[in-house]
Amino acid sequence: MAPTPVQSLEAAPPASLKDGLSPPQLEAFEEEGYLCIPDALDPSTVRTLLDETRNMLNSFDPSQHPMTQFVTGDDQSDRNAKHVGDEYFLTSGDKIRYFLEPDAVSPSQPNTLLKPPHLSVNKIGHALHDLSQPFAQISINKRNAAIARSLGLRDPRVLQSMVILKQPEIGGAVPPHQDSTFLYTDPPSAVGFWYALEDATKGNGGLSFAKGSHKRNGVSKRFVRSSSGAGIEFEDVAGSRFPENLKDNPTKHQQDEKYEMAEVKAGTLVLIHGNVLHKSEKNTSGKSRFVYTFHMIEGTNKYDGKNWLQPTRKDGFSKLFED
Ligand code: FE2
Repeated sequence: MAPTPVQSLEAAPPASLKDGLSPPQLEAFEEEGYLCIPDALDPSTVRTLLDETRNMLNSFDPSQHPMTQFVTGDDQSDRNAKHVGDEYFLTSGDKIRYFLEPDAVSPSQPNTLLKPPHLSVNKIGHALHDLSQPFAQISINKRNAAIARSLGLRDPRVLQSMVILKQPEIGGAVPPHQDSTFLYTDPPSAVGFWYALEDATKGNGGLSFAKGSHKRNGVSKRFVRSSSGAGIEFEDVAGSRFPENLKDNPTKHQQDEKYEMAEVKAGTLVLIHGNVLHKSEKNTSGKSRFVYTFHMIEGTNKYDGKNWLQPTRKDGFSKLFED
């Protein structure tokens, strides 16, 4: 079954967040670089989102797929296979596309899946906030606008969204990174909204954070379209490495960050500062770890044509504030 088309973008916001983050929540986010908000989604909404995810997975047809895998960091060169950076990935910003878990693809026969198709997908992206009604409803809504307002954003733009599927036994690890590397604005401004659709724990590849690392670590690399015109690469950041309110901090990277796991229940919203270092381990358990995440940036900051993700609409990325 195909994804449910968008009909309305308004969800009913729970009362607790209708005015945005409370002062203690804001203080915790600013201090630690992330914030867990339990029960941000009620169980029936979580069920609807999981049903939508299963519908999308069931509509995935590997015979019509370029076998693009989702691989992070240096792993991109370790196999003779298609990776993030190919055309299927680069043109996914306004579509719903499927990226494969590397361990689901045969190393000797790159066109052969070792698992059933619905258990081989690592990620579905990057325009669920535009093209799928259930995901649009929890992305572009008044509650998230209020959260963005409380974080000080002037013109928040939702620029990408995805379901991340840590499949049982093969769901890959994600090495330490800062989200602003992948969604760079000058100065950096990315904020991740990460909704657990299933419990995310130590056992199934939950998220770990280096608390407060957003204040110690500038964004030194950015993920850009390669200068040769095809594919992607990392380049040194020439502009600001810290958001406006953290300008006075040194721009070097701290080497010895300690990570703490944020174990969360299904329905929890985790807000992630674009400069905070975070990672997740491989899922070796028999339990999946499905999450939905989208990112917003400050629309008034500079977003240049080098970034891998480019708006395709005349009015740019999706506005969160009404005109
Ligand atoms: Fe991330």
